[in-house]
Amino acid sequence: MTVHEILKMGDPRLLRVAQPVRAFDTPALHALIADMFDTMEAAQGAGLAAPQIGVDLQLVIFGFTHNARYPDRPPVPRTVLLNPVITPLSDEVVDGWEGCLSVPGLRGRVPRFAHIRYRGLDPAGQVIEREVDGFHAVVVQHECDHLIGRLYPTRMTDLTQLGFTSVLFPDLVDNDDD
Ligand code: NI
Repeated sequence: MTVHEILKMGDPRLLRVAQPVRAFDTPALHALIADMFDTMEAAQGAGLAAPQIGVDLQLVIFGFTHNARYPDRPPVPRTVLLNPVITPLSDEVVDGWEGCLSVPGLRGRVPRFAHIRYRGLDPAGQVIEREVDGFHAVVVQHECDHLIGRLYPTRMTDLTQLGFTSVLFPDLVDNDDD
């Protein structure tokens, strides 16, 4: 089990456009994915992107059955997604509160597409394609933004809706380290 340090906003490695994964089903890829799950679970994250641990690859993981940082959110299937492409399925945009392990202690209201299709590859190189909405769609858009060097504050349109988790959600468990 290897829990990696999660890079924080301000680190230039979070601003890169990540490189596509080209080698599938390799021991190195499986080891990286295992480390990412260890790191995400240790931080109680809903998702994690490889650039957040300094790895310059188009690789995201996400999913949970219950998440202490988002206790009112429905489950999202545990997924490993490589080289993802997101297509909005309508113009509808919804605002929702987001946090990020690379932006600890803060939450912001972020506009996201309500309905998306995402397509990518699993660790064996097999296609994953899903049409999703709700928090699942938010998580995918948030994680895939890490692959193009975007953190959620850069998606916000109203910065009055950015604040400390401990102030906005004082009842949230572990709200001081997210
Ligand atoms: Ni994030």
